[in-house]
Amino acid sequence: MSRTRLAAMASTLALVAALSGCGLGEPKSDMPPLPPSATAPVTYERDIHSWAQPQVARVKHVALDLVADFATRTLSGTATLDVTGEPGATEVILDVRNLEIRSISDARGTALPFALGPEDPIKGQALTVTVPAFETDKVQKIVVTYATRPDAAALQWLTPAQTAGGQQPFLFSQGQAILTRTWIPTQDSPGIRQTYSATLRVPEALKAVMSAEMLTPDGEGASDGMHSYRFRMTNPIPPYLIAVAVGDLAFASVGEGVGVWTEPGRLEAARTEFSEMRQLVDAAEGLYGPYGWGRFDLLVLPPSFPFGGMENPRLTFATPTILAGDKSLVSLVAHELAHSWSGNLVTNATWADFWLNEGFTTYFENRIMEAVYGRDRALMLQVLGWGELQAELAALPPLDTRLHLDLEGRDPDEGMNSIAYEKGAAFLRTIERIVGRERFDAWMKGYFERNAFRPMNAATFLVDIRAHLVGPEDPALERELQLDTWVYQPGLPSNAVAPVSGALTAVDTAAEAFFADRGPASAIPWAGWSTQERQQFLAWRPEGRAAGRDWLTNQQLADLETTLNLRSEGNAEIVFSWLQIAVAHRYGPAVPKLEQFLTSQGRRKFVLPLFTALWAEGDWGRPLATRIYAAARPGYHPVTTGSVDAVIGVPGASGAAG
Ligand code: BES
Ligand code: ZN
Repeated sequence: MSRTRLAAMASTLALVAALSGCGLGEPKSDMPPLPPSATAPVTYERDIHSWAQPQVARVKHVALDLVADFATRTLSGTATLDVTGEPGATEVILDVRNLEIRSISDARGTALPFALGPEDPIKGQALTVTVPAFETDKVQKIVVTYATRPDAAALQWLTPAQTAGGQQPFLFSQGQAILTRTWIPTQDSPGIRQTYSATLRVPEALKAVMSAEMLTPDGEGASDGMHSYRFRMTNPIPPYLIAVAVGDLAFASVGEGVGVWTEPGRLEAARTEFSEMRQLVDAAEGLYGPYGWGRFDLLVLPPSFPFGGMENPRLTFATPTILAGDKSLVSLVAHELAHSWSGNLVTNATWADFWLNEGFTTYFENRIMEAVYGRDRALMLQVLGWGELQAELAALPPLDTRLHLDLEGRDPDEGMNSIAYEKGAAFLRTIERIVGRERFDAWMKGYFERNAFRPMNAATFLVDIRAHLVGPEDPALERELQLDTWVYQPGLPSNAVAPVSGALTAVDTAAEAFFADRGPASAIPWAGWSTQERQQFLAWRPEGRAAGRDWLTNQQLADLETTLNLRSEGNAEIVFSWLQIAVAHRYGPAVPKLEQFLTSQGRRKFVLPLFTALWAEGDWGRPLATRIYAAARPGYHPVTTGSVDAVIGVPGASGAAG
């Protein structure tokens, strides 16, 4: 951390990080102490996706002691919960889904009565534990002895064949949004923060990593072919950020306090691809204050990881499809890093305000990209995002284009869409444009400091921005910003301004020449284009036909495929863009590539739109979809199969959708 940051004495976070030596050095001992905002009382907002009653009793700490059994595909052992409650209260309500609860006791081993409520298909079950009456500030311990089920939705157990190395099995978790309850019995709401610790016993040939400080880097106490790893997370986090991975893992440092974990066979590729991670962290800290989590490492998972990235604290999980070989997809790392402030430090209280996590992060991601790679690259990314936003606005029912969502009766996983990301980011860019960057940045930095370790919702966001940026003395500014319209109304308010990238405007011209005027593919300056320019080119659609098809002739498709070498293209974003065009035209020659793409990775963002598009192509697409899905499905994570099953059904099962 630079000396200059010591000047930021006003910031508690800056101060504690500076006093502890370094915001992001090699971990010396613990993480920096928490700012006062972390201990101030929290008002709990009702979360329709949790059974918990935090205003009565809340989990403060989770201590896991689990064994990973790859033969039975279960994690089993105990979760010891530290709970505080209102004086006199005698009940603690936890969230569980598809868990085998074996027994519950207090710290001394005395059994505690408990009851499992009715099963809700989205929320799972309430696990109500009866405890002796709480006393003020007294912590009670609840020891839950349990096991996960082999089909726990948060977990994916991979066979050796599903890994890069092919020799060892692999396990990883995905908690967001409400899946942690399928592997940990706790209060699974983003507004209820908990510290955690864990002891994991895993087969000796494997390594365990978590979203926490690693206390035993080499494992310890081997016996019966097993050894154990210990972890601790001393910052209180929402439970969706508790994460684990177990496998044949190796580590490479890429700078002070930053590094990559992955299977040994991919380590060199990961080290090279992400060699600029430290610059990203420096840029982020330069913008909005010290990184508060100690290390920032990246875990590159096997290809079935259902997301591009997941911001698990200290250890971002990422898909191997961002190993493009040319660093062209590192904005994903900038995104997950930005969540260390927006999401992990300041957290949406419920999933209805998912935009507070993702919109802030998408904005912040772009600022990091601008700081490290320059304005042109950042503008290109903004324009690509804007294009996605337009497509999304056209496709969604208007009520789902609001930032503050109504998720009543819905699985958050389905209700949360990319509006949160791109409309959220456009909102913040609008504010930045109107008040000026300097003033905006000062507010944003303060927002993270004031609200660190606290849940936020649309209303408390509006209070914060009115109190600290707009001010009551400037009604003209208040009107100009249209804050409430942005947050609560569908579509885009009138003060939204489309970003413009000179480079991508040139691409649009080339795209018009090829697509609309039927020019030859040889005239496309493809070789000189960056990945972002190529993405913009392939995203071209005829006016008013965003969801239509047949804007190309077969001859043009063949010309594109050959001239741009799309059959041997390795960049997953480009392959995805191309396959969307191919499927919309029922272009047979691209089917082998499609099949290879869908069976070699399970990232939902790629897999779901392609299967959906295939399904929309009736006689041509449905048999293909069914055949490819039958082969691909066993390799996908439950998050991905859950979404694809809903579109095309389970191959082989009767009553498939259709
Ligand atoms: N937190 C999200 C992933 C997520 C969202 C998981 C909702 C479960 C529910 C993560 O930060 C994210 O947004 N990942 C994106 C990549 C990003 C660069 C837009 C993804 O996975 O595609
Ligand atoms: Zn995100």
